Amino acid sequence: MQAEPSIRDLALAGQGVDRIEWAWAEMPVLQQLLARFSRERPLAGLRIGACLHVTTETANLMRVLKAGGAEVALCASNPLSTQDDVAAALVTHYGIPVYAICGEDNDTYYAHIDAVLATRPQITLDDGADLISRLHRQAPELLPDMLGGTEETTTGVIRLRAMAADGALRYPVMAVNDAMTKHLFDNRYGTGQSTLDGVIRATNILLAGRTFVVVGYGWCGRGIAMRARGHGAHVIVTEVEPLRALEATMDGFEVMMLLQAAPRADFIVTASGDKHVVDQAHLEAAKDGCVLANSGHFDVEINIPALEALSKQKHAPRQHVQEYHLHDGRVLRLLAEGRLVNLAAAEGHPASVMDMSFANQALAVAWIAREGRGISRAVHAMPAELDAEVASLKLASLGITIDTLTEEQQRYLSSWQEGT
Ligand SMILES: NC(=O)c1ccc[n+]([C@@H]2O[C@H](COP(=O)([O-])OP(=O)(O)OC[C@H]3O[C@@H](n4cnc5c(N)ncnc54)[C@H](O)[C@@H]3O)[C@@H](O)[C@H]2O)c1
Repeated sequence: MQAEPSIRDLALAGQGVDRIEWAWAEMPVLQQLLARFSRERPLAGLRIGACLHVTTETANLMRVLKAGGAEVALCASNPLSTQDDVAAALVTHYGIPVYAICGEDNDTYYAHIDAVLATRPQITLDDGADLISRLHRQAPELLPDMLGGTEETTTGVIRLRAMAADGALRYPVMAVNDAMTKHLFDNRYGTGQSTLDGVIRATNILLAGRTFVVVGYGWCGRGIAMRARGHGAHVIVTEVEPLRALEATMDGFEVMMLLQAAPRADFIVTASGDKHVVDQAHLEAAKDGCVLANSGHFDVEINIPALEALSKQKHAPRQHVQEYHLHDGRVLRLLAEGRLVNLAAAEGHPASVMDMSFANQALAVAWIAREGRGISRAVHAMPAELDAEVASLKLASLGITIDTLTEEQQRYLSSWQEGT
């Protein structure tokens, strides 16, 4: 049964519509998919539950799924990332029930997930795997009707692979994150730009000449390091994987242990998908005034309980900044409660990059609708042809045409006889 939408304020809808349409103009691939879905109705009669960051870009994905014929319900995948005006606009102007309020507490967050589950979805969309894991644990009666699910982010894919390895995953999931047209662009350029945006909006501190430490040199970390350098910061990378550490070194960054970097750091930004990567020892070594922020999926990357224990008092001098006054006299500044800084203190990824991520989502959902019953209960890679389709649509929208292989080249590249 569908509950009444649960959002902050319907009066915000007008502003939400303006911002959703602004993003739409930057999403040419989704525009093309909306036209196709309206024509072909690949999701006709299906119920879809989505647990994603409630942003302008997500709103546009919801429009595409609805145009494809689905009934869609949406909740947040993070308590701090909801754009309340977007939630209002989705309810009033686009006819999509939303259960999400920025700043909601943990109980409300899960009550909102339950409200989506109450719509009895047959396909789930996740960003961090909270909806799908709740469905398996709290609403197993839905499992027989499930066709499949999609997962947007690295951390969610890791959780789902662990579920599959335990034999606990009861329906197939497409790892949208693993599409090249997702993580190569979204995690790198999207997180790179928007994380810096979040840090700058929250602090308004000049980055040029500062020491900026990036923890984790994965797809997100690469983007963050690249953009911090572009602002003139001195960037240090910390890693646990030798290959990635070597890559960071060859990319021109200083690489060292976090314990060595912490006393020099003006900023420490985590993007590791791992727990307590900034731990008590690092907090004890950190420079006075250091800004701490996280861009990884969960708020576990910085050991906040340890930070609390080291502190005698807290003060919030600006929105999204919490200053911790430590017993030893130093002050450490935590942004956005250690949650995704790019979504909490800024607006998440720019629309043109989410255009590709969400085109993958839309195509993955259509694929599940078509093939779901025949797919094994596992985490599946996106079919390569869908990835190529998204890349081609994006290139076309940018007015870029590329060369094609000649017949001679095709023969050459698929033969082994021709050599020196
Ligand atoms: N902020 C956003 O909008 C956004 C967007 C995409 C992904 N994410 C999230 O960001 C996180 C990273 O994603 P990714 O795609 O870059 O993952 P990734 O697996 O490519 O990279 C993570 C890196 O962190 C390193 N790492 C792990 N533990 C570490 C430690 N203790 N110290 C230093 N390095 C460590 C790993 O070796 C790896 O190289 C995930 O939680 C993902 O879900 C966030």
